[in-house]
Amino acid sequence: MSFAIPSAAPALRLARFSAEIRAAVERVLASGRLILGPEVESFEQNLAAYLGLPHCVGVASGTDALALALRALGIGTGDEVATVAMTAPATATAILSTGATPRFVDIDPRSRGMDPVALESAITHETAAIVPVHLHGSPAPIVEIMAIAERHGLAVVEDCAQACGAHINGRKLGSFGQAAAISFYPTKNLGAMGDGGAVVTHDAAIAERIRRFRFYGMNAAEEAVSWGTNSRLDEIQAAILSVLLPHLDAHNEERRQVARAYRVGLAELESGLPPDLPGAIYHHFAIAAPNRERLAQRLAEKGIGTRRHYSPGLHRHGAFADRSANLPETDLLAARTLSLPIQPEVVLGCSDRVIEAVRSCLS
Ligand SMILES: Cc1ncc(COP(=O)(O)O)c(C=O)c1O
Repeated sequence: MSFAIPSAAPALRLARFSAEIRAAVERVLASGRLILGPEVESFEQNLAAYLGLPHCVGVASGTDALALALRALGIGTGDEVATVAMTAPATATAILSTGATPRFVDIDPRSRGMDPVALESAITHETAAIVPVHLHGSPAPIVEIMAIAERHGLAVVEDCAQACGAHINGRKLGSFGQAAAISFYPTKNLGAMGDGGAVVTHDAAIAERIRRFRFYGMNAAEEAVSWGTNSRLDEIQAAILSVLLPHLDAHNEERRQVARAYRVGLAELESGLPPDLPGAIYHHFAIAAPNRERLAQRLAEKGIGTRRHYSPGLHRHGAFADRSANLPETDLLAARTLSLPIQPEVVLGCSDRVIEAVRSCLS
């Protein structure tokens, strides 16, 4: 189904920078260096500097970034990793791929992120790590989560797939945990023209392990010395991301502008509006509406695309089913969540149409 106002349109964002992107792709083609070359190195350095971290390692996707970060921290078979069920399936897929088991913790409805109180009571002897998710580009209560992790001696890998550029009082998300995973999936705020991801970290040893893991487990002398896989960011994606990174803050600010308009226009939703945190970058603008299915249908009839990020919670997906999980806040939000178009190129000049349509459906 095609929409006048689609839920996202990455091609429109890329079109804004078409000349620069074409020049960057031409440069890579002319160089003949297509994998792990100067474009990846320079993008890694620039992204690390942007986030205020010393190390960044480009990999093939956000899912791989999470899985490789967990492996670099020694997480594997027999371990449990505490995370949330209100997230993309990729968060739990990555945990499972290491041999560990995801243990779902409920969210705090105020932040829609992991509830620190629920986290503390979910920790067992098997818990080895925590993966908080900065859902929709909005900070999870990471300061409280880090304090709990330190008390229990647990590693933290922040899932920043949706949160590149978001911050708490100026400190970028991704700089709180031992490592963080970022996704460059095309719809992301910093999205490539294909798949890509990165791990960022303060820890040189973690970065060094991930560089090895992403390239068959080989050291600098090309001897395979450990477990490894093939998970490389390619030169073309890195060159495109280097074009887009300097524009990320302006892009995120445009998303905040749309979010402000939605907050004013849809004030009647009250607690159904997403958390209003100054450092959020609005990867999604997810409202909570009791009549979600009818609202989505009516908006579709008016040419407005919406998505359900995320419904149902992961504890109800076959691959991760956790019958013992009692997650009332996750279930409540999952039944109501509906993401309105927020990408600036789609909706910056026409957020009024979305507001009017939602208001007329609600009344
Ligand atoms: C919260 C979250 N975690 C992880 C991922 C995985 O990223 P990728 O699709 O790049 O593997 C995504 C991507 O949608 C995501 O939204």
